Amino acid sequence: MAQNWTPSSWRQKPIQQVPDYPDQEALSQTEERLAKFPPLVFAGEARRLKSALASVSEGKGFLLQGGDCAESFAEHGADTIRDFFRAFLQMAVVLTFGAQQPVVKVGRIAGQFAKPRSSNVEKQGDVTLPSYRGDIINGIEFNEESRIPNPERQIMAYRQSAATLNLLRAFAMGGYANLENVHQWMLGFVKDSPQAERYRKLADRISETMDFMKAIGISSENHPSLRETDFFTSHEALLLGYEQALTRVDSTSGDWYATSGHMIWIGDRTRQADHAHIEYCRGIKNPIGLKCGPSLTGDGLLELIDLLNPQNEAGRLTLICRFGHDKVAENLPRLIRAVEREGKKVVWSCDPMHGNTITLNNYKTRPFERILSEVESFFQIHRAEGTHPGGIHIEMTGNDVTECTGGARALSGDDLADRYHTHCDPRLNADQALELAFLLAERMKGGRDEKRLVVNG
Ligand code: TRP
Ligand code: MN
Repeated sequence: MAQNWTPSSWRQKPIQQVPDYPDQEALSQTEERLAKFPPLVFAGEARRLKSALASVSEGKGFLLQGGDCAESFAEHGADTIRDFFRAFLQMAVVLTFGAQQPVVKVGRIAGQFAKPRSSNVEKQGDVTLPSYRGDIINGIEFNEESRIPNPERQIMAYRQSAATLNLLRAFAMGGYANLENVHQWMLGFVKDSPQAERYRKLADRISETMDFMKAIGISSENHPSLRETDFFTSHEALLLGYEQALTRVDSTSGDWYATSGHMIWIGDRTRQADHAHIEYCRGIKNPIGLKCGPSLTGDGLLELIDLLNPQNEAGRLTLICRFGHDKVAENLPRLIRAVEREGKKVVWSCDPMHGNTITLNNYKTRPFERILSEVESFFQIHRAEGTHPGGIHIEMTGNDVTECTGGARALSGDDLADRYHTHCDPRLNADQALELAFLLAERMKGGRDEKRLVVNG
């Protein structure tokens, strides 16, 4: 194992999921241009996220991570971003209330453009073309021209990320996230939503609490934490040439940071210990996510933990478990036991999306009941093992799409055709996402009551 890491040392390793750029010269030129562009995020912010995640790893917080499966160039609008952020804040408020703990807020956004694919080609009728790999690489339209990987798309993805991040920062710090607005976040949220009444009740309680605090002299004017929130960005670090170009030395610490987003994660398909993606990620200091699927053994996980977090630093590593509702019970305990046995500090997060994808009426979809069932098993298993179920990782949108079946509105297979907009995997719509947050909050409350009983009994 090479000890000497550089931002380009991954290039000496075997690699999966690389696009076939026909013009390598143009690719290098693009990477050189990107390397001169300003960083999107600042190392100090990544450290701040790491310390928030360190608290989660100690059982003192909950990680909410979510957003599109894949961002797209076509849907880059202020409304889409605002609607996502609003749904996300609503979830965060519900979870903060349920957990009675801080919720660490991380979007799959402002950089989530590259997609791993199970096949290099896609076949439609007699025509076979390269697979779509995300807007940062090629186009989703099924024609030859669009499917050719084009380096210029990396520049477009960078610029879209910058604009998205700019708006998110404004929302998070400029007043939109003010808890005095919890009722305002209802606006535009479908009035006949089954979650509307439930959410309104909770918003009433928060407003009442805010009024009480105001009466005793605590308000958003004198307490910024009531009107501001820390919102972080994340994406899968799949396209390593792009990541390398945005890898910079932090002048304060002298350490290397990925500046394409605050947190980056490694996919389940690209986590081979001696391969390029692990090599790249081990050298940067950001918080890292590692997707853990059914093929990961306890020893395999420990090997990866030693590579990615040799100092056992709390907050560095989040294990994002994605097994499937029917496989979680069989796979999660062995990973928890291996980690506990070796005393490794990690955040345990549950991705209930990727192991629960099925095909229905020719649409890729995910039944809400299965998503919920994986999250519930995740919570139960952690309770039984005495570890902290630290977070969830979901694919969601603020829009009223019909991509996952079920939920309080009982979307059926026949509804999928109505508003199936995703560029990749099916996402929870705003209703379903909020419903998941409420159900989770109830579980968390249940867990607290249980603990109290044990303490008192
Ligand atoms: N600053 C706190 C936090 O981020 C409280 C807060 C402000 C908040 N606005 C929020 C919490 C919006 C959830 C959603 O947790
Ligand atoms: Mn996905």
